[in-house]
Amino acid sequence: MKTFQFLLMVVISLAITACAKPVVTDATSQVKSSMESSWVDEKLATLSLEDKVGEMTQLSIDVLAEGQPYNLVEPFTFNEEKLKNVLVDLRVGSILNCGGHAYTRDEWKHIITTIQEYAMMKESKIPVIYGIDAIHGTNYTMESTLFPQELSTACTWDPEFARQCAEVTAYETRASGIPWSFSPVLDAGRDARWPRLWETYGEDIHLIKKMGVAYVEGLQGDNIGATDKVACTMKHFLGYSTPMRGKDRMPVYIHERQLKEYVIPPFQAAVDAGANSIMICSGEMNGIPVHADEKILKDLLRDEMGFTGVAVTDWEDIGYLVSRHRVAKDFKEAIGQAINAGIDMAMVPMDTKFPVLLKELVEEGVVPMSRIDESVGRILQMKKDLGLFENPVPDFNAYDKFASDEFAQMSYEAAKESMVLLENKNNALPLDGSTLGNILVTGPNANTLTCLNGGWTRTWQGTDPKWDTPGKWSILDAIKAEHGEANVTYTDGSDIGNTKSSAANADAVIVVLGETPYTEKPGDIDDITLPQDQLDLVKGLKDEGKPIILIMIEGRPRLINDIVDIPDAIMVGFLPGEESARAISDILFGKANPSGKLPITYPKFPNDIITYDHKGTDLAHRDFSMNGFNPQWEFGHGLSYTTFDYSNLRMSQEKITSNGSITIQVDVTNNGTRKGKEVVQLYIADKVASVTPCVKRLRGFDKVAIAPGATETVSFTITPQDLAFVGRENEWITEAGEFEVMIGDLKGMFEVE
Ligand code: BGC
Repeated sequence: MKTFQFLLMVVISLAITACAKPVVTDATSQVKSSMESSWVDEKLATLSLEDKVGEMTQLSIDVLAEGQPYNLVEPFTFNEEKLKNVLVDLRVGSILNCGGHAYTRDEWKHIITTIQEYAMMKESKIPVIYGIDAIHGTNYTMESTLFPQELSTACTWDPEFARQCAEVTAYETRASGIPWSFSPVLDAGRDARWPRLWETYGEDIHLIKKMGVAYVEGLQGDNIGATDKVACTMKHFLGYSTPMRGKDRMPVYIHERQLKEYVIPPFQAAVDAGANSIMICSGEMNGIPVHADEKILKDLLRDEMGFTGVAVTDWEDIGYLVSRHRVAKDFKEAIGQAINAGIDMAMVPMDTKFPVLLKELVEEGVVPMSRIDESVGRILQMKKDLGLFENPVPDFNAYDKFASDEFAQMSYEAAKESMVLLENKNNALPLDGSTLGNILVTGPNANTLTCLNGGWTRTWQGTDPKWDTPGKWSILDAIKAEHGEANVTYTDGSDIGNTKSSAANADAVIVVLGETPYTEKPGDIDDITLPQDQLDLVKGLKDEGKPIILIMIEGRPRLINDIVDIPDAIMVGFLPGEESARAISDILFGKANPSGKLPITYPKFPNDIITYDHKGTDLAHRDFSMNGFNPQWEFGHGLSYTTFDYSNLRMSQEKITSNGSITIQVDVTNNGTRKGKEVVQLYIADKVASVTPCVKRLRGFDKVAIAPGATETVSFTITPQDLAFVGRENEWITEAGEFEVMIGDLKGMFEVE
């Protein structure tokens, strides 16, 4: 039992990622940065104010094309007058997006080449930097490799899949002539209702950091100038993902302590990993739109976190300071607020007045020249680091691995490990294809590719099957290929009576439910429960008495408490991507053993949305018991076709000092008959703390492959810094006292002195 007199206040501001830290530079990097800054200074000296404000402007490709913004002429056609006005006269330094849908690599070649040709017509000859949302692969290039979305990747609990996704994305994005991606999302997915939950790595900060850093490293490598690397964009800084109403871009209120402990750390970890750019959060936090918050954009991001790269706005967010947030009376005032707060580049994205008004603001003394030079310096540095000055247009012939089988196989492996088996009564799965006759495959998500991929797939919302990659499978296609077309009956489930008749003639029913694609605002919902017609389908099928396998394909956990006892097995995929149908079929028929685990808490009730790392008072139930934590499935849950036994939890010592460490080990035995992978999860609970401690926190994890009958020893090394929390003074501290270790069903204790 600890006493507060003995609290060891380990202020760890130098040691852990989430706090203020001086920028440490070694001799080599000092030489490098002074060389670079002199290059930037020399370059800046050659630029006029018009050149500079142009560099800070990012416009959508819509403004260069025939047609109207959001409604371009098909096929995409450049308008020469607009090209000249935007790229030469206004000297706009960055273009983004795709004008409505994905293009072939040939079309991208034409687009990028044309844009850079015009950029070379302006006096400064600074190349344009093109940015794109390459979210789960290079989704705006036709036929590119599409991976599981972030939440689905997090279900693998293996950061190598995040790295591989990023590596292939970087390669295929460069292969499309584009050097800058607006990913990864590093917002924590801690509200199941939020329509961008599937764009996150889930609810746990440790898991997000591991996944996020692997992704950043995969995208950027050691050198973003390499022909197969791109600059990443951490987004959306800061406090985007937990709006009070669970809907996109609504007010967020976060106390400084929560901000430090749950929101900043993934961004800090990515900054430390060298992330090159950051996108600012569209929302307002504690009553201040982040785009106009100097405390966040300068004091925190630059001075405390040490970020030196480019800060770009989110879509139209300077304009929204006027129209939505109402903190500025007009666009010009909004520009002044945002740029003075620390924005480097405005994703305007349609209004060509931005550079004109920014120039006026500088001439009128509202925005200091030093602020402009700082931003333009960062942008120039990024363009230089990307190699754009030497090669504004890549060699499009140099990418023979684009959309290769090798990349598709990587996506398949990731999808396979991302599927989470939630229930499996009496080993209903795997199905024995050799003895099973007819299978009914039904449900709205059974015969679609768009639902497996989700938003940001060929189009922003990803809803239109017209853009599906030819030859890629739906779940129905994969089951037919496995079990024989003649042995599979399909209905979409909309006619329950007809579907029940089909079920009566089948030996088993595979019902595929969930969500249709969406992202951002269009994904807002008023009820997190799975739509009634889908629940009714399962209830109707129950009458037929056949084994029911439920597969949920969704971007967030839609509640199914009403029907959860009906299916014999339940599996979920949080948008597992283009290759996932085969992965799902392989799991269903036992060719693959599921190993995914939930990276979120799956709620049971709409008014009980909670994370695993809740507080003690969250346990209080209306019956005065402490049984108030009652999710459908817990964070970290996921079944396998084999079983794992945990034994022999041991620790290197009973006590650790403030600068010591402890090694925690456990033996994990595969006591089934088939090989499998287990995610060993280390949770630690601070028994008593000066700020109410969480019931437990994930402090380590390791995914291990174990042969049948074999035992693997898994080790974790924990330091007091790993146990830190943000204390009463809003500083990171570790307090002395007892800590409980939990791995599987085993528990132990150690003490920090
Ligand atoms: C989204 C960003 C995205 C940007 C550019 C915004 O609406 O919030 O995540 O990167 O658009 O497409």
